[in-house]
Amino acid sequence: MNHLKSEQLLAQNSKTIPGGLASLNRKGDPVIAFTRAKGSRLWDIDGNEYIDYHAGFAPYILGHNDDDLNSAVIKALQDNLSNYGSGPTQEEGELARLFLQAVPHADKVQFFNTGSEATAQALRVARAWTGRSHIIKMQGGYNGHHNAVATNLMSSREQLGGKRIVGDECPSVPITAGIPPEEQALTRTVPFNDLDAVERVAKKYSIAALITEPALQNIGVVKPQPGYLKGLRDLADRYGFLLIFDEVKTGFRASLGGYQPIAGVTADLSTYGKAIANGFPIAALAGKSSYMDLAVSSDAKKRVLIAGTYNAHPIPVAAAFACLKKLMDAKNDVYGRLEALGRKLEAGQRELFARHKIPVTISRIGSASCVYFMDEEPRDWWDILEKHNGDFDVKYRRALIDRGIYHFPVAAKQGSISFAHSDADIEKTLEATDCVLRELCK
Ligand SMILES: Cc1ncc(COP(=O)(O)O)c(C=O)c1O
Repeated sequence: MNHLKSEQLLAQNSKTIPGGLASLNRKGDPVIAFTRAKGSRLWDIDGNEYIDYHAGFAPYILGHNDDDLNSAVIKALQDNLSNYGSGPTQEEGELARLFLQAVPHADKVQFFNTGSEATAQALRVARAWTGRSHIIKMQGGYNGHHNAVATNLMSSREQLGGKRIVGDECPSVPITAGIPPEEQALTRTVPFNDLDAVERVAKKYSIAALITEPALQNIGVVKPQPGYLKGLRDLADRYGFLLIFDEVKTGFRASLGGYQPIAGVTADLSTYGKAIANGFPIAALAGKSSYMDLAVSSDAKKRVLIAGTYNAHPIPVAAAFACLKKLMDAKNDVYGRLEALGRKLEAGQRELFARHKIPVTISRIGSASCVYFMDEEPRDWWDILEKHNGDFDVKYRRALIDRGIYHFPVAAKQGSISFAHSDADIEKTLEATDCVLRELCK
């Protein structure tokens, strides 16, 4: 497959944009400049067509350019809605009511533009509520690009001291330069699925909040062990910190209310983004009134600033409202359909990998899944680091891309199915997988 024009575009853009693109997390090898997307399909500048499993890093739960969402957005423009910057709007109120129907464990919600804004705000609320400064995050968890959480994602063996850490915190491994050391010291990182580590850190530091994705979905799909999320809930209650579930990826994808209804564990604060508006930029912070109402506390010392020129902008609000309506409409059975497609893909992949005698573990939550080239489900990042054949994974992804199946070409990245995928898409994907495995096994 030829990507010549894509490479030329990156080179041209690089003259004016450092790295050639606006989010450097999007940089992949091969470089592919997409020009169009509809439903489950992507097209690039070189004229190639793909079935998409990247979903723009997961938002596109309904598929690209969903007609109902596009109509809602066009209507908002035709109605001359604007981002007035003054006073309440009917639309933000309607969206909040619908959102809270979908997320009944929360009393109130605030809207932002990005997941990073929502997680930053959640941590600020937790710090204001507790009067404490330290936070806990997970090794292998991604909660946004801001200073408090830009650390310990896909850290290397060397960065982690060369051995598995059990029952204790991990060394701090920032994923960006520019974080003041005193701020970096306020973020303590622990391995996922390790309650002893959380307790140890909670005894040592004055913890305001623990923030985690309920299932780690930025290193594939790493599920919580039975009892782990409940254990976090208990520790939060015992040590007086707030539990924040970052559902930016799991929200509206694992189920309507995210992963919490599946786990039966409720966080104090939850963040959402991505699938909430099927790719339009909007995010949310939701939780119990006591915490959310700090925004309007009569005590000025406790009051938390909530502000943003583009918060609840009418275009993403219209998209989110239409998206939630579609997700919540029982006759669409979106989650039943996604589960059926996910199961079909997984079963087909299992059969193919077995036939080609390649040991894999497929970890899946509904429409989100990851093939790990290792023989047991990972419990944390260290398991992936130690056992997953990342080089083979990248070769596998690139070979699939060559055959028109688009997965992000980085090892251990989650794949996402959308409501727009058809049974025929899954079958075509499995046929391509068969060819790729035959090639790679030569
Ligand atoms: C779990 C999680 N939280 C937060 C974020 C940050 O969201 P955004 O990129 O919209 O700022 C992401 C982005 O991938 C994410 O996966």
